[in-house]
Amino acid sequence: MARDTRQPTIVTGLDIGSTMVRVAVGQIMFDEGLGRETIQIVASVEVPSEGLYKGNVTSIEDVVSSVANALEQAERMVGYPIENVWVGISGADIISQSNKGVVAVAKSDGEISSEDVERAVDAARAINAPLNYDVLHVLPKSFSVDGQTGIKDPIGMTGMRLEVDTQMIHGLSAHLKNITKAVYRTGVDIDDVVLSILAVGEAVVVPRQKELGVAVLNIGGANTSLIVYEEGDILHTGILPIGSSHITNDLAIGLRTSIDIAELIKKEFETSIVEKYSKKDVINLADFGSEDNEHIPRQYIAEIIEARASEIFSKVDEELLKIERNGLLPAGVIITGGGAKIPGMVSLAKDHLKLPVTIGTPVNVGGITDKINDLAFSTAIGLVKWGALLYTSGKKQKRMNIKAGKMVDGVKKVFRSLIP
Ligand SMILES: Nc1ncnc2c1ncn2[C@@H]1O[C@H](COP(=O)(O)OP(=O)(O)OP(=O)(O)O)[C@@H](O)[C@H]1O
Ligand SMILES: [Mg+2]
Repeated sequence: MARDTRQPTIVTGLDIGSTMVRVAVGQIMFDEGLGRETIQIVASVEVPSEGLYKGNVTSIEDVVSSVANALEQAERMVGYPIENVWVGISGADIISQSNKGVVAVAKSDGEISSEDVERAVDAARAINAPLNYDVLHVLPKSFSVDGQTGIKDPIGMTGMRLEVDTQMIHGLSAHLKNITKAVYRTGVDIDDVVLSILAVGEAVVVPRQKELGVAVLNIGGANTSLIVYEEGDILHTGILPIGSSHITNDLAIGLRTSIDIAELIKKEFETSIVEKYSKKDVINLADFGSEDNEHIPRQYIAEIIEARASEIFSKVDEELLKIERNGLLPAGVIITGGGAKIPGMVSLAKDHLKLPVTIGTPVNVGGITDKINDLAFSTAIGLVKWGALLYTSGKKQKRMNIKAGKMVDGVKKVFRSLIP
């Protein structure tokens, strides 16, 4: 893809979350001094998300209006129309499975070219998706050449038979159609649909952590997604249908108050660690807009938050156990997403996961907005980063790490390389 490197490329990330729709607009510029592309976030917008229930579309019209609203606000901030967006997708309707692709090496001298690698990945992609699911990503993990396994980059090697082990990520067709339809109706084009957690991982992790072994958790409203990297590659992705909205619901039930009041209480809470409060520490529901003048011990509220947060982290630990990495990731766990904002989450995560845990904000991204450090913006900014990597790599040689994205309506099928 030839581009003029003096002109900034505009990349927009659209994160249609279960609680908020977020848009981040990035300018990609080549910095002569640094000798690389830089990303500046020039607009970031959030509006409440309508028309979704637990991440599933319940009204396309409502999704269209929230997305249109967010895009309009972003356009006003940047002063030009937004024409294309990278759309993040999450939710429980994602299936991840391993697939192999096998091809015969094309050249008669047996030297493996990038085309052979693409064909092998294509062969893996051609294997049928589960019924009612579409391919979102084909992530190559490793290659084998004539039976020699564990090869990271086979280009330039010699052999007859090239095999690729991939992780395939499928999304429920109906959900993908609803989301893409809603986005198209706002009048913008879709660059691609990306599994949100891949974008989040790209945003908050540095290559060294990926090499050592690291997990990223995005704690959203309806879902908690995770991605695990090892030796520079994606080892595992998963989505758990439980997030911070469950904490709000638990508080509403436990305190016998409304969801709105429960949400306010959760957001002002200083920590989710029960021991940090004395028995005498109380809140008054009336201070949060309730008609009842009822005093509730902070310890009780912290217990409710802690119970649900513990459940989330135990489920994450089970996910890590499935891939035999529980307690075994040298670079630990990075938590992000709006749900990571409750103080004390890091410490709870440490207790349950028995790993070092840190908060993750996007790295190597600059910007004029303070939202670059807002944990809830990790997905939207991650999508900008994902898009930027794919744009800028267009002019570089294709590498092993080919990520294939497919436009859901099947209009576009693109192979691009991704620079981790
Ligand atoms: N300051 C805060 N303190 C505590 N919790 C917060 C704060 N800000 C947001 N949250 C919580 O974060 C959650 C939403 O996180 P996020 O915005 O990442 O989710 P989403 O992207 O809308 O949903 P999903 O990713 O599940 O589709 C909500 O439950 C909200 O209460
Ligand atoms: Mg989210």
